[in-house]
Amino acid sequence: MSAPEHPHDSGSVGTTGHEWDGIRELDNPLPRWWLWIFYACIAFAVGYWVLMPAWPGLSGYTKGILGRSDRAEVVEQLARLKTLRGAQNARLAKASLQEIEQDPGLQAHALAVGQSVFGDNCATCHGVGGTGGKGYANLRDDVWLWGGTLDDIHRTLQYGIRSGHPQARFSQMPAFGRDQILTPGQVGDLTEYVVALSGRPANPAAVQRAAPVYAANCVACHGPEGRGDPLQGAPNLTDREWLYGSARKDIQAQIHGGVGGVMPAWTGRLDPETLKALAVYVHANAAGQ
Ligand code: HEC
Ligand code: HEC
Repeated sequence: MSAPEHPHDSGSVGTTGHEWDGIRELDNPLPRWWLWIFYACIAFAVGYWVLMPAWPGLSGYTKGILGRSDRAEVVEQLARLKTLRGAQNARLAKASLQEIEQDPGLQAHALAVGQSVFGDNCATCHGVGGTGGKGYANLRDDVWLWGGTLDDIHRTLQYGIRSGHPQARFSQMPAFGRDQILTPGQVGDLTEYVVALSGRPANPAAVQRAAPVYAANCVACHGPEGRGDPLQGAPNLTDREWLYGSARKDIQAQIHGGVGGVMPAWTGRLDPETLKALAVYVHANAAGQ
């Protein structure tokens, strides 16, 4: 069987002897540039084997004369970071909250620690930005249930709120409706009263009826003017910030049911330096007191 004439067949190059369907494989030499790159790769590989860890053996691997090890490097970096952090944490442990806030270097460290710990432990309830949500206190404003000084915040973090810890912040608003301390009519009137306290238009007759009921049942915690009491976690009822919502139905539900929010205690779960850092972080990010 003879091959048909091939238009590009110069005849100067032999074939490898392979032929499929009239396609013959010519035996051209490899291009020179390609060959040089090929040799360079081989030379590089040999050099690499000598210098760097390369070949697996029965017990370990060839280490290479540079003795490089990514793992050792990571271990070393971690150790360096730990001594660095250790020094900063030791300073955190010794300094008072106020001193931390006044020392720019230490404060920067506290803010960095606080931010990462907040993301891992607090954002689930208080939101990524700390702005909270219904029932979860907003930590970015300057409205505080339990006080907004560094020490107030620190104490809240250590022991929590209604957390069951013996030193937890605790108070309990009675469930005036559910426990039938007040009639549904009185609860309705008080709702109008609270709406009026927050400076919004309300039914004047209901407000008038509610005034003595408020004085008898609510003043002890929320105060005669409704400004609240941070020692009891009683919110200010005259501002625009609402823990459980500003709508009449939200206010009525709280007077009826007396919900008390629970915030876990962090002492024992986070170490003391971290709690200080968090307090500084929360304080710095709120319009603090
Ligand atoms: C399981 C949900 C939950 C987690 C997690 C949580 N909190 Fe809270 N936190 C609350 C609730 C609910 C309140 C409001 C309690 C109340 O109604 O009195 C609160 C209140 C607070 C307050 C007091 C606010 C005020 O107005 O006085 C601070 C400060 C605070 N949290 C910080 C933190 C920090 C920092 C973390 C992370 C270490 C954290 N919280 C984790 C639920 C949580
Ligand atoms: C023993 C103290 C106490 C008494 C008495 C009390 N409250 Fe409260 N009240 C609280 C506390 C504490 C909260 C916040 C609950 C929380 O943080 O989860 C609260 C929350 C509220 C809220 C919700 C505020 C918001 O920001 O969403 C309203 C409204 C309210 N109280 C109205 C009343 C009225 C009206 C009375 C009287 C009938 C009353 N409270 C009596 C302690 C009290």
